[in-house]
Amino acid sequence: MSKLSITAYTFGVLFFIVSCSFSIFYGIKVVTHDLPSEKKTQEKYNYHFVLIPEELDNEYWRLVEKGAKAAAEDYGVMLEYVGPKQANIEDHLKTIEMSAASKVDGIMTQGLSDEQFTPLINRVVEKGIPVITVDTDAANSNRKAYIGTDNYYSGYLAGKALIADTKGRANVAIITGSFYKNHQIKRVQGFQDAVKPEENIHIIDIQESEISRVQAAEKAYQIVQEHPEVNAFYGTSALDGIGIAQVVKKYRKNEQIYIMGFDTLPETLNYIREGIINATVVQEPFEMGYESVKMMIDLIEGKKVPSVIHTNTKILRAGDLPPASRKRMEGNH
Ligand code: BGC
Repeated sequence: MSKLSITAYTFGVLFFIVSCSFSIFYGIKVVTHDLPSEKKTQEKYNYHFVLIPEELDNEYWRLVEKGAKAAAEDYGVMLEYVGPKQANIEDHLKTIEMSAASKVDGIMTQGLSDEQFTPLINRVVEKGIPVITVDTDAANSNRKAYIGTDNYYSGYLAGKALIADTKGRANVAIITGSFYKNHQIKRVQGFQDAVKPEENIHIIDIQESEISRVQAAEKAYQIVQEHPEVNAFYGTSALDGIGIAQVVKKYRKNEQIYIMGFDTLPETLNYIREGIINATVVQEPFEMGYESVKMMIDLIEGKKVPSVIHTNTKILRAGDLPPASRKRMEGNH
């Protein structure tokens, strides 16, 4: 063999070895990369819970889901998040029924109305599946526990804040998520009771948005057309204040119209920064989700769980917002 062919041969062998080690290395990488997901499907969870919201893609409910998923990961729970695409009582009830039929270990959901939810919750609990109400309570049902805002108190706080901010003089229109759902009724009641002693606060109109931002805007538009004397709005669910703000910004920008909203979704905070929404009621959706999973585990494991846990509620105004540079941190709660 000539020198040249020996060198070529050595290079060939070297090349072969190098490419073999590459393919072995990547081969192994591919295999190990695939392994965890295979393992995941076989992983044993301690429990299987279902969280059923009023509206699946509602940003507020996504925060509750985020909290519940975080706890599920921390405590080895398989958590499903299922429910109506758009708020719909029939679909909501059907989802609870189906979850119970598939024998999950626990159901977290709202107790939206006594008439429709209480008998169903009672039937599910009777079957041995614990139910925890989250965000909205069906206090007269046999649900095991409630975690969420004290809805009456939150409405009362909103009323007191509106009195303080308007110096006790306002013609108010209320847009509520629903006339028939427990939490929305309480948020209106608390507000009405707070403003009742005020001689110069008048509630002019109350309309319903079916928790849709578009409907909230339509109702707000109708109110500004029909009641030019209205100079304050109170929206009682997460998208109502946003719908009201859109209308006020477009049609009544140069007037002093006070808006009290609900929740701290990014759009609401932007309107607060702009000065269109004056104040909002803060709820703790992430915490509701997280704690509901923990409570459910405690219940199943026979530990004592309080029957009602109220998460924090307070009023937030522009001055309470962090400086713009910390904006990115918002939206977690
Ligand atoms: C309520 C939720 C409701 C959501 C609608 C929130 O303020 O707590 O129950 O589904 O608003 O956008």
